[in-house]
Amino acid sequence: MSEDARRVQRPARNPYLFRPISFRTVESRNRIMMSPMCQYSAQDGMPNDWHFGHIAARAAGGVGILCIEATHVSDIGRITPHCLGIWNDEQRDALARIASHVASLGAVPMIQLAHAGRKASVSQPWKGTKPIPVGDGGWEAIGPSPLPQTPQSPPPRAMSQADIDRVVEEFRDAARRSREAGFRIVEVHAAHGYLIHSFLSPLSNHRTDSHGGSLENRARLLNQVIDAVRSEWPAELPLFVRISATDWVEGGLDLPAAIALSRMLAQRGDVDLIDCSTGGVDHRQAIRPYPGYQVPFAEAIRREVGIATGAVGLISAPEQAEEILAGGRADLVILGRVLLYDPHWALHAANRLRADHVVWPVQYERSNIF
Ligand SMILES: Cc1cc2nc3c(=O)[nH]c(=O)nc-3n(C[C@H](O)[C@H](O)[C@H](O)COP(=O)(O)O)c2cc1C
Repeated sequence: MSEDARRVQRPARNPYLFRPISFRTVESRNRIMMSPMCQYSAQDGMPNDWHFGHIAARAAGGVGILCIEATHVSDIGRITPHCLGIWNDEQRDALARIASHVASLGAVPMIQLAHAGRKASVSQPWKGTKPIPVGDGGWEAIGPSPLPQTPQSPPPRAMSQADIDRVVEEFRDAARRSREAGFRIVEVHAAHGYLIHSFLSPLSNHRTDSHGGSLENRARLLNQVIDAVRSEWPAELPLFVRISATDWVEGGLDLPAAIALSRMLAQRGDVDLIDCSTGGVDHRQAIRPYPGYQVPFAEAIRREVGIATGAVGLISAPEQAEEILAGGRADLVILGRVLLYDPHWALHAANRLRADHVVWPVQYERSNIF
């Protein structure tokens, strides 16, 4: 069928999914963000050809904002010995090549900065996520309190004030290197049971000093990290925060706490979006996932706090993504596994939703016939 005939039969629409959106001075060509997804394939924290090809494919596939996987601020902050890092200049320079290629493909390069805390020093998922002992390539994990992640994990070392100060400085240095590498959005990983979340949750934080007790105290590390990141991250560039909006365990973080936390972050004035994930801090979590199961958290935080939110979790159908945006339930849809399944999801969704203005890479134009 000729291009003209196709247009006559299927008039173009202007779906929300493919409308540009801006955060500070950064404009994304659409409202699709690729969720950070660890590849557990680095050596010494360095990205390699796997990362380059994997990321390039999704940028060419049309996402608006491309967030690279959790990139750790120190060697002991990695989940596995094969996680990415940005604690030295060599890593920065290798990441710069990726960020520049993402930008050349029309997507916004974004980096997630992370510290694994007590979930550190485990094997890759395909090797069972088993604790790696010190002396066997592993290291001593740190956390707010000496409480193990699972009954099988060794307890982390409870962090001293000097440990906390060091981690804050590591985030500051990582933010500077992220800027130097050419990323345009930075996300602070405060979800999934990793270091910052383990301070936020009363299930994992039993401290009695200024970092324990009230939500304000438990959020102190997050606020100090954001202060440090912002000291190196220009005011014209956006900063997102990923939170776990519930721990799915009685006595843990829940939606009211997530709303209070998001309000605290919104009042700072330098956080641009809350990326609303859930869970990960406690092995007793009882989650029943269904398509879009975390969207209600993004929706409630957006409505109650008035800050932009991103919805993530089992979003895979273009119509479902469109409904989330058109219904005012979130500002971005954040896609994970579906982009591993189909790197060109965004281009396919544009066809499906009749967003005919979406431009394909010229090299692939001849494939747009289905
Ligand atoms: C292979 C894999 C790696 C992941 N790595 C990260 C990560 O680095 N940082 C993060 O915040 N979430 C990570 N996640 C969670 C995803 O970003 C996303 O929140 C989750 O998979 C739910 O979205 P989905 O149903 O669209 O996949 C990972 C998920 C997968 C499947």
